[in-house]
Amino acid sequence: MLSEKMGQALNKQVTAEFYSSYFYLGMHAYFESKNLEGFAHWMRFQAQEEMMHGMKLYDYINERGGKIMLQPIDQPPGDWDSVLHVFEKVLEHEQKVTAMINNLVDLALDERDHATNGFLQWFVSEQVEEESNVGGIVNKLTMVQDDLSGLFVMDQELGKRLPPTVE
Ligand code: FEO
Repeated sequence: MLSEKMGQALNKQVTAEFYSSYFYLGMHAYFESKNLEGFAHWMRFQAQEEMMHGMKLYDYINERGGKIMLQPIDQPPGDWDSVLHVFEKVLEHEQKVTAMINNLVDLALDERDHATNGFLQWFVSEQVEEESNVGGIVNKLTMVQDDLSGLFVMDQELGKRLPPTVE
């Protein structure tokens, strides 16, 4: 069974993952409004993936006999300066999520909750992947800047993203 403190911390992470989904859905809407279909496609799958992260935590809390405590989800930003600006904010956001996951691992280790520590290792690896993928996109966008043909190529490339899986 989860401790009350661990349960509360995991519930907070459920909210953070659902906020991430909302954050990326807002970016999806922004790209749709700019007719950047490939970037929009990528962001829609990103939003779906975050919902799956939230549900993975939600299921784990239930499985361990914890209490689900759903919290309000903040309103995400609605406008951005450029495609590069969007992805810089994605990277910044993912770095914050990594810090949150690390704090959860610290708590699990403090409590000698080995099951939760083991469960969280999936998220630790996932954050390495997320930061690396988004960091790569930011690097390319920094090279492209406002060059329209470069943005067109990247829009095509990101439009090939496959649907997310979280197993
Ligand atoms: Fe659920 Fe993008 O971290």
